[in-house]
Amino acid sequence: MTDLESLRAELDGQSPRAILKAALARFDNIAISFSGAEDVVLIEMAHKLTDNLKVFTLDTGRLHPETYEFIERVRKHYGIDIEVLFPDATKVQNLVNRKGLFSFFEDGHSECCGIRKVQPLRRKLATVDAWITGQRRDQSPGTRNDVPVVQVDDAFSSDGNTLVKFNPLANWSSKEVWDYIRMSEAPYNTLHERGFISIGCQPCTRPVLPGQHEREGRWWWEEATHKECGLHAGNLIGKSD
Ligand code: ADX
Ligand code: SF4
Repeated sequence: MTDLESLRAELDGQSPRAILKAALARFDNIAISFSGAEDVVLIEMAHKLTDNLKVFTLDTGRLHPETYEFIERVRKHYGIDIEVLFPDATKVQNLVNRKGLFSFFEDGHSECCGIRKVQPLRRKLATVDAWITGQRRDQSPGTRNDVPVVQVDDAFSSDGNTLVKFNPLANWSSKEVWDYIRMSEAPYNTLHERGFISIGCQPCTRPVLPGQHEREGRWWWEEATHKECGLHAGNLIGKSD
């Protein structure tokens, strides 16, 4: 059993807080990846565990105004820095001037997500030893069923640098996350009051109707098994096209 496999076996049945605590104890150079949605629970839990909390967010340039406002509110509420990462301006400019502002509706989201999310994330992850995400198994039956609480991130590890990825909420349901938000009186994105559950970029996210799965509000014009933008590329390995 490798070191990471035994850590996974140890952490698998534990609470998100205990997983976060173990992650922060094991790695100094570790950061939370915050999307501006209900993953605020990670910040709520972690800010009490360390004075050295590192949080970053990927500003694609296409987020909802409510999400920008929320990120700022979280920064003030917890008194923390949130590093905002931007895409390469020339690449965005070339894409938009070549294909327009909504090319993802025509030929899929991967090119735009690649430039606006994945490349900035790759640059950031090259500077840390481990990262923490808010992924959960219940977020997507199509792609997230097997998300472990800790894993080697093969998609973003570089030569000689093994990147570790923690998913402390992997085993939690949406209800558990929301119970925690309410109980701790954590701030939340006001889009959640208007039928949005899973929140990404404004053009590629819409509210869902009663009974619809939250993932149906993301990239709704694409197949369920394609609904990953590349931040969590490992989830697609072994899934059919
Ligand atoms: S996505 O890949 O489909 O966009 P999702 O919205 O489900 O991801 O969020 C899962 C986790 O990915 C979040 O909890 C967060 O850790 C990370 N993430 C997603 N979008 C961003 C973002 N814009 N900035 C930082 N982290 C993000
Ligand atoms: Fe572009 Fe949509 Fe991906 Fe955002 S979610 S980066 S707007 S394709």
